[in-house]
Amino acid sequence: MNIKVLQQNIDKIIIAENSVDNKLQEICNTLKNSISYYNWVGFYFNHENKKELKLAQYAGEETEHTIIPFGKGICGQVAVSNENFVVQDVSEQDNYISCGWKVKSEIVIPIFVNGNNIGQIDIDSHSANIFTEKDEQFLEYVCKKVASIL
Ligand code: SME
Repeated sequence: MNIKVLQQNIDKIIIAENSVDNKLQEICNTLKNSISYYNWVGFYFNHENKKELKLAQYAGEETEHTIIPFGKGICGQVAVSNENFVVQDVSEQDNYISCGWKVKSEIVIPIFVNGNNIGQIDIDSHSANIFTEKDEQFLEYVCKKVASIL
């Protein structure tokens, strides 16, 4: 789908009369349904002050990784680095938490509220080498919009 149209769809979800939880769920569903190689889309947020991430809304297969300690896996590393993490081939990563053999690549973009990294969007793909700078830019847009309602 055209990225501009997708951004407009995200904007509509953000400004709708709806709870934050429902909006986040709709964003997961929209992203997964609109971009063929987004096979799992979820939000992790910092869990209290425990230096761990907790899974919130997601679209795709259920995962047992509902709590991820800071520093562990791709998600846990982004909680510490505050930077986007694009993994083109997960088999080359030592510090990686597998969510199933089908996953070949992953992208994690942090969400900042008042300059603080408070969580992230995490996307898994069944295709290797699939994410580009366009995904990063688009997902940064999504994360900024999400930050505006938190
Ligand atoms: N692969 C992630 C774990 C979360 S799942 O992808 C849903 C990681 O290494 O942090």
